[in-house]
Amino acid sequence: MKAIILAGGQGTRLRPLTCKAPKPMLPLVNAPFLEYIFKLLKNYDVEEVILSTSYLPGLFERRFGDGEKYGLKLVYVEEKEPLGTAGAIKNVEEYLDDDPFVVFNGDILTNLNISQLFEYHRSKGALATLTLTSVEDPTSYGLVPINSTGEVAGFLEKPSWDEVTTDLVNAGTYILEPDVLNLIPMGENYSFERGVFPEMVEKKEKIFGFPSNAYWLDIGTPQKYLKAHRDILGGRIEFDFKGTQLKFGVWVGKNCAISSEANIFGPAVLGDNCQIEANATIFGYTTIGNNCMIGSGVTIGESVIFDDCRINRSSVIKNSILGKGVKLGAKVHVEDVAVLGEDIKIGDENSLKRGIRIWPETEIGKNIIKF
Ligand code: GDD
Ligand code: MG
Repeated sequence: MKAIILAGGQGTRLRPLTCKAPKPMLPLVNAPFLEYIFKLLKNYDVEEVILSTSYLPGLFERRFGDGEKYGLKLVYVEEKEPLGTAGAIKNVEEYLDDDPFVVFNGDILTNLNISQLFEYHRSKGALATLTLTSVEDPTSYGLVPINSTGEVAGFLEKPSWDEVTTDLVNAGTYILEPDVLNLIPMGENYSFERGVFPEMVEKKEKIFGFPSNAYWLDIGTPQKYLKAHRDILGGRIEFDFKGTQLKFGVWVGKNCAISSEANIFGPAVLGDNCQIEANATIFGYTTIGNNCMIGSGVTIGESVIFDDCRINRSSVIKNSILGKGVKLGAKVHVEDVAVLGEDIKIGDENSLKRGIRIWPETEIGKNIIKF
């Protein structure tokens, strides 16, 4: 089977992390997010993956090459202008054949059983089958009511609360028959969610919903990106951790220098070449990238630190995200879903809290922000 991954969005809700990297390339416990999807697809007999890109397209191929490492053939198709979720599929038509194929939004963490989805699709004789998941707040998703036979009865993207009639939403994974391509105009920006799917419902085409209880999370906001890490480290979804287990729930990469007077409480993951100084404390649900220096007396918990960061003496990081190459001075507090972009330098004694987002390469002197 062939798979198409939609990876062309700008990831605006995850800025500044996505200022220099597309969302599907952001690290997920120290490996590019897409690697997780590749492994999932490989488990279900997918041989070829077409990556539909648009934003920062070159970064994908540079990292993944021809896909041999994953046992997959990877094909990259770049859109000059974003074509929308359906336009993106039309744009890769020449790489598809006469068989049904699977489409994945490029920001979904799931352990969905794709064979079951495919069997369901076949048993219904569907033209399109949409995986559905139940969520507490459907207003950020595509609302998909179904009837008793599983047929989709409506498709309403980003409904307001007074329009919510079910907790089932579009999980962003579809099986499509090639005939669906005939419903998409060529070379236009066109969306599944606002175009193709509502139109299929209207015309009574065979569009089915597959309610799934699999683990499911869209990683597209800082809170959910942190939750993805918390859930993986907490064992809610299976994950292939790199490194060796220092003790239960603590994975450490190669060439790390960890002071005997540092404390690491799992679950936590450290990348390669990290240095953890005396009296530093790493609390649970923390991921630290490669080549990071964590100074003496630093406290970190429930956070994601990308590669090449340097955290100086007695700083505190809680429930926050630090992009690649961030340098924090001494006694800096970064808390409550603060998000720092690449190559930021923060002087001593600043306090960055409550969802503050700082753009890449910003430099802030000593003791300036008390947020
Ligand atoms: N190639 C290409 N071109 N890809 C695109 C484009 C485009 O123009 N626009 C978006 N994408 C990709 C994004 O990179 C992402 O992987 C995926 O399509 C979905 O875009 P998001 O921006 O993340 O959409 P969303 O999360 O608001 O909503 C979508 O996903 C929800 C589930 O997470 C919709 O499909 C909803 O109906 C669904 O519930
Ligand atoms: Mg999304």
